[in-house]
This record gives sequence, C-alpha cells and structure tokens, in this order.
Amino acid sequence: MPFIQWDKSFSVGTTALDADHRRLLEILNRIYEAWQTDPSKVELDQLFDELLDYTDGHFNREESKLAARDYEGLADHHVQHERLRETVLAFRARHLAGNTPDALTEEMAKFLKSWLMDHILGEDMKYKPLFTGMP
Ligand SMILES: [Fe+2]
Ligand SMILES: [Fe+2]
Repeated sequence: MPFIQWDKSFSVGTTALDADHRRLLEILNRIYEAWQTDPSKVELDQLFDELLDYTDGHFNREESKLAARDYEGLADHHVQHERLRETVLAFRARHLAGNTPDALTEEMAKFLKSWLMDHILGEDMKYKPLFTGMP
C-alpha cells in the first residue's frame, strides 16, 4: 500500500500541475517503499536522481505558470521550493555517504509529510484561486 495517495483534496485547480504532483507522490512513494525493503544502492541512486530531476522540472513549471498570472506570493513560494530542493539534496548526500536505511526511515517519513502535506496542501493550495477563479 502506498505511503500517500493522491486524492481530490490535493487538487490545485490545474490538471497540468495536478499531474506533476501525482507523479511526485508516486516517486516519493517508491523511495519510501524502497527504503523499507533494503534496496540496493543503485536503485536508491536512481530514485533520488529521478526525484531531483522531476522536482526541478515541476518547480520550474509551477513558477512559470504563477509568474504568467502575476501571483503575488511567487517570491516566497520560490524560497519554499529552494528549501525543499536543499532537503532532497541533503537526503541524497546522506544516502550517498552510506547511511543505513533504518537511521533515515523516520526522517524520510517526516520529510515526505512536510513536502506533501505542508507544501502542496498548504503553500501550493494558496494559488488555487488563480486557476479556478474562485476564492
Ligand atoms: Fe510549490
Ligand atoms: Fe507544487
């Protein structure tokens, strides 16, 4: 069973960004599952590369859509994205340094929660009215 599943409460009012978020959830779930099942280093390397790659792509797409609509919270939102990106880099660095999965699993769960719940449901949700036209 996935750690977190997308549902309508995650919708930010635009199908393109919803699709991005679904994909991010899927990658994060795969990392979490891999982490629980004693993955090979190569497998986690690939998953982290995929996460970082997709994260960068998503943040760029999201920010350019927000810029096109003159979103007033864009500067703050960009800072949040930078912080999340640094968190991913830090996890990846610790993984590459050979930390054992057990030591990081709980932090990983917290990280996933902070990303998905706090960022998408908190910060991303603030721009939803730009796309739905509803306050
Ligand atoms: Fe965002
Ligand atoms: Fe987002």
